[in-house]
Amino acid sequence: MKTYLVGGAVRDRLLDLPVHERDWVVVGATPEELLEQGFRQVGRDFPVFLHPESGDEYALARTERKAGRGHTGFEVHSDPSVTLEQDLMRRDLTVNAMAETDHGELIDPYGGQADLAARRLRHVSPAFVEDPLRVLRVARFAAYLHHLGFTVDSDTLALMRSLSESGELATLSAERIWNEMARALQTGNPEEFLAVLEACGADKALLPELSAAPGARDHLGRATAANAEPEIRFAALCSGLERDQVEALCERLHAPNRFRELAVQWATQEQSLRGPAQLDAAGRLQVLEKTDAFRRPERFAQLLDTLGAMHPEADADFWRNALAACKEVDIAAIAVAGVSGREVGMRLRAERMKRLG
Ligand code: CTP
Repeated sequence: MKTYLVGGAVRDRLLDLPVHERDWVVVGATPEELLEQGFRQVGRDFPVFLHPESGDEYALARTERKAGRGHTGFEVHSDPSVTLEQDLMRRDLTVNAMAETDHGELIDPYGGQADLAARRLRHVSPAFVEDPLRVLRVARFAAYLHHLGFTVDSDTLALMRSLSESGELATLSAERIWNEMARALQTGNPEEFLAVLEACGADKALLPELSAAPGARDHLGRATAANAEPEIRFAALCSGLERDQVEALCERLHAPNRFRELAVQWATQEQSLRGPAQLDAAGRLQVLEKTDAFRRPERFAQLLDTLGAMHPEADADFWRNALAACKEVDIAAIAVAGVSGREVGMRLRAERMKRLG
C-alpha cells in the first residue's frame, strides 16, 4: 500500500500559499485493510476514510464514470489495481491533479507544474464535463488565484460554456452552489468568480438576479477593496436589487440568515442610509426602526460597515450617533403606571424624534 498527498495541498505548497487541508490517496489497498489500521469510513458513495489521529481524508484510488444526471450519477470503481495516474486523471484541473510521495517527490502526469508556471487553470481531460460543480470550482479558483495572475484556459472555458448550455447546472443543489459562493466571497478577488461565471454563461442559470443587475461585480470589488467580511460582500453584491430579487436569490441559494438579513436590509435602506440630510426626524427614526437597530445593534453596525465600504464619503457616524441618542431616552420614565402600551409607544417615538431633528 502506498499513500500520496494530492490535490489542493500540493498545488498550494508549490505556490507558497498556506495549506489548510491535506487530502491523501491510497493505492494498492482495500477498505478492509484501512479499517484494520483504525481508519474510519466516511464516504457512502466513495471509499473515503479519516485518519485515526490526524483526521485527514484518505481516499482509495478510484476511477469514476458518469452514469446519469447530477452529482450522484457516477459509477465509482475502486480496487487495489487502480493506479495513481488513473486516479489523478478523473480530477478537474491539472494544477489539482498532482501528487507527492512521502519523500517529497512530485508526480505530475498531466502538466500541472507547467500550468502553475503559466498561471493557467486547465482541465485534465474531456471528462471535466461529467461534474457540473466544476464550473463553480473553476470560477472560485480563478478568484482565489487571481492575485497571482491565473486565468482560465480558453478550451476549459469552452467546456464550461457547454456545461452551462447543457442544463446540467440545474442538477446542482443549493447547498453545493452556496458552498462554492461562500468560499469565493472569502477570496481576495470574489468579483472574478462572477466574471468567470459570466464568461461561460453560467450566471444566468445560477444567479439570474445578479446576472441582470448592472454593476454587481463593481459593487463586490468595492466591498472587497475595503476588506469587508463575507456577509458585507454579499450585501454589496445585492446593491441596487429590489427586495424581492434579494429574497429570491437568497432562497435559491439557501443563503444563511445572517447573509440574507443584511442583504435585504442593505438593498432596501441603502439610499436612506446614504442621505440622512434628506430625511426629517420621522424618516430617520423609520430607518432605525426598519433596520431593527434597537434590537439588533450588531447587525446595524454591519449595515453601517457596508455603508462605509460602499460609500466612504457617506456619514456612517451620523447613524451611530443617532442610535446612541435614541437609546438615551428613559423608557422607565415614560412607561409609568396608568399609561397604556400604545401611549408608551407613541411617547417613546416622540422623544426619539426630538433627538433626531
Ligand atoms: N476534485 C475534482 N472535482 C471536484 C472536486 C474535487 O476533481 N468536483 C479533486 C481535485 O483534484 C481537488 C481534490 O479533489 O484538488 C480535493 O478537492 P477539494 O478539497 O474540494 O479542493 P482543493 O483542490 O483541495 O481546494 P481547496 O484547497 O480550496 O479545498
